[in-house]
Amino acid sequence: DRVGAAAAVTRLTRWVDDFPVPGVRFGDLTPVFADGLALRSVVSELALGFEDVDLVAGIDARGFLLGAGVALELGCGVLAVRKAGKLPPPVHSRSYDLEYGTAELQIPTAIDVAGKRVLVVDDVLATGGTVDAAARLLAEQGAVIAGAAVVLEIAVLAGRDRCSGYPLDCLVRV
Ligand code: PRP
Ligand code: MG
Repeated sequence: DRVGAAAAVTRLTRWVDDFPVPGVRFGDLTPVFADGLALRSVVSELALGFEDVDLVAGIDARGFLLGAGVALELGCGVLAVRKAGKLPPPVHSRSYDLEYGTAELQIPTAIDVAGKRVLVVDDVLATGGTVDAAARLLAEQGAVIAGAAVVLEIAVLAGRDRCSGYPLDCLVRV
């Protein structure tokens, strides 16, 4: 259940100060993913509450680990939203600011997302730049954003404020 999944995340998340740059406190969910019971319960909880989802969009890289699981749970397909330089052209792109630096997300033009209800999945919501860039990239191509689901929300960075226009579900808020 949700309480058990959240407890597993809280227990297993590894916090690292000043990574990848000074001043950033990095929440590493690797031990959550490596624990079979925790992974199963987290994936189940991320899928709950979203209906009529046509496609799950998992964000490069750690969102991939969750995205496919959530898609299996919901009975739909998964789309890997990739960082620049990973996909062959032609692609649709969108740039965004990170807590540390800037980046660019891409999807293949060959995947028609127009009119599809898409659920965006990632591990952590920090500034919200990544999730919101993925949602906007998909919406620009005509997708309906069914919502965004993440495991861990870093509340002090107010990423939630950036993610407007679609429901955002965070399993654990710190
Ligand atoms: C981390 C994390 C989220 C994002 C959150 O990914 O996995 O995707 O940052 O930050 P934001 O809310 O401020 O945008 P990162 O870009 O470090 O790459 P990775 O998933 O490939 O490790
Ligand atoms: Mg990431």
